[in-house]
Amino acid sequence: MKIIAGNWKMNGSQSALDKIISDLSEIDTQNTVILCVPYTMLNTKSDKIAIGAQDISKHTSGAYTGEISAQMVASTGAKYVIIGHSECRQYHGDTNSDVREKATQALNNGLIPIICVGETMDEKQAGKTMAVIESGVRECIPSDINTKIIIAYEPRWAIGAGLTPTSAEIADAHNLIAKTLADMGLSGTPILYGASVKGNNAAEIMSISNVDGVLVGGASLKSDDFIPIITSVK
Ligand code: PGA
Repeated sequence: MKIIAGNWKMNGSQSALDKIISDLSEIDTQNTVILCVPYTMLNTKSDKIAIGAQDISKHTSGAYTGEISAQMVASTGAKYVIIGHSECRQYHGDTNSDVREKATQALNNGLIPIICVGETMDEKQAGKTMAVIESGVRECIPSDINTKIIIAYEPRWAIGAGLTPTSAEIADAHNLIAKTLADMGLSGTPILYGASVKGNNAAEIMSISNVDGVLVGGASLKSDDFIPIITSVK
């Protein structure tokens, strides 16, 4: 059983979400399916898929115009929240320390954080991939956690680019994350791979050791693209 999470980013509409939920209710899968949608769609209910947000504030409440708290997201019935996505790091300046604060907010409000780590192209070319991944895991996860979290390895240079690392590179990254999590007392934490996952590479990627599922951007927007990913693995 795998976890297949979609990240709609600033795309889609309520009618598109209702349509994909209806299409997904037709398929037979044991996999956990999550759709992380824009805030305006968080209130959507489905017994087949779980709904998640794409970011939350690191603050509990107060004068933070435009932000949304973990408590507000949780009150919609959403169960998950992506934290530390590459685009939030790039456009909002989120650091590992911000990610850790947001993850703490998520956990305090009963949301499962999907914490993203991964290297930029510059970091890859400088031979820093493994160091960035390990420090990401160590610095983004709050201490003393006793509830579920999910980690997503997303090589930032590959997101939306139609590029993926080699299977060996994905294996190295996921093995390092699993080892680091074990060292932190968090063995068994699911580790997703994300960046340019499509119907034609999903099964192969999910057959790699320590890949417990995928985080899918562009290919999660339409049933024709998303369902083949969900049904590509048992
Ligand atoms: P992509 O996005 O699948 O479109 O590369 C992945 C992500 O941003 O999580």
